[in-house]
Amino acid sequence: MILIVDDDKAVRLSLSVLLKRAGHDVLAADGPETALDAVRGHRNSLRLVIMDMNFGRSTSGEDGLELLQRVKVLSPGLPVILITAWGSIPLAVEGMRLGAFDFITKPWDNRMLLQQVETALTLTHDVPSDADTVFDRSAIIGHNRALTELLDTAARVAPTDAPVLILGENGTGKELVAQAIHANSPRRANPLVMVNLGGISQSLFESEMFGHVKGAYTGAGADRKGRFEMADKGTVFLDEIGDLDLSCQVKLLRVLQQHTFERLGESKPRKADFRVIAATNADLWAMVSDHRFREDLLYRINLITLRLPPLRERRDDIPLLVEKFAADFAKTSGMRTPEVSAEAMDYLCRLPYPGNIRELKNLVERTILVSGSPRLEASDFSRNANPTTTVGETGRPGLGSASLDDLERSAIENALRLHRGNISKVATELGITRQTLYRKLEKYDIRR
Ligand SMILES: Nc1ncnc2c1ncn2[C@@H]1O[C@H](COP(=O)(O)OP(=O)(O)OP(=O)(O)O)[C@@H](O)[C@H]1O
Ligand SMILES: [Mg+2]
Repeated sequence: MILIVDDDKAVRLSLSVLLKRAGHDVLAADGPETALDAVRGHRNSLRLVIMDMNFGRSTSGEDGLELLQRVKVLSPGLPVILITAWGSIPLAVEGMRLGAFDFITKPWDNRMLLQQVETALTLTHDVPSDADTVFDRSAIIGHNRALTELLDTAARVAPTDAPVLILGENGTGKELVAQAIHANSPRRANPLVMVNLGGISQSLFESEMFGHVKGAYTGAGADRKGRFEMADKGTVFLDEIGDLDLSCQVKLLRVLQQHTFERLGESKPRKADFRVIAATNADLWAMVSDHRFREDLLYRINLITLRLPPLRERRDDIPLLVEKFAADFAKTSGMRTPEVSAEAMDYLCRLPYPGNIRELKNLVERTILVSGSPRLEASDFSRNANPTTTVGETGRPGLGSASLDDLERSAIENALRLHRGNISKVATELGITRQTLYRKLEKYDIRR
């Protein structure tokens, strides 16, 4: 079955007639929402989508590009032919880059169109229409339901160029997921360029991201490629995107829209072909309503949103993670993998983990290193755990009736006392970034 998507009834009708005469089953949709419903509802019988690029009054093609990407997420193997207005070749090219099979321009030649349809149907015949292509998740440990669902979505988007936004608290594995998406994408042979936008100043942002020519500013001794250029044909990972200031957000938006930029000190625009994955632990929607994050930029980067659960919401994975971290650490330090007693595992499954998986990993490694014993007991871990986790009088983690917020607050207060208010040390100890620590100090109104 072929799905026709166009808001113009005349176009739907004439295409339907043409395709039916050629012996095809046809389904028509008048806009993006109905089209997506049709793709969802007929996933197994749909063989091709022919879609217009503009819906309603918009003529930029943005709606079409977005619909294309959404279709590709739902059904990566389903070929899409774009209908573009005559003369809008750049749009068609962008569409192809995003995974369209082909494009036709209005007004079309019937014979040509049927030929293109046949080609699309034959060439993609054996491609599975659903995401049963393999996604290598071997680096990511866990069977938790929320995590598995997230990885299923990641598997669907990996082969496309759709921008992905990864959300989650510190240490939940955002970077790991970004790496897996890149490694499972057609761009895998090309670079994954990581950029940490946390605390980057405006001038640094421009020279880092766009590059500069010799003499562009004092100290610019030689020409330098920016990160977007380095990522050509690959992926850019924009980490801590919530920390970017508003003026840099404008500049970033422009690049994401046009894929062109200029090196500092040069007026010639350069082009680069990159896919964007962004990550943050900030609530970008709240920031949009506070006017601290641009809505249009958010819209650009979050075509697909992946939310990583905090470790306290996926405690079922703790034993698996502990075993993996213990085995890996023992291997790299040339030791035998220590055994973790049942009681110790029980203890580890109850800790609050404000620093999530990173905190658990640090704890396991620290304990192996410090105890040096072939069998690890709960007391070995509690001795090396964060301050909160050792306060319980029974020797058990102080979960009791305390809320997670209480535990987090006292973990921070204890660590502050221990490190005499040294923020860097406290952040390292808790396995969170300094920015996060400052946010939490503010949240709990803790004074140093
Ligand atoms: N599911 C997982 N399986 C195995 N290791 C994991 C998993 N998730 C995270 N890790 C490990 O935990 C550590 C933290 O992960 P990562 O750096 O990806 O987190 P993050 O969300 O980017 O953190 P931050 O917000 O602090 O930058 C890394 O050492 C990573 O390898
Ligand atoms: Mg990270």
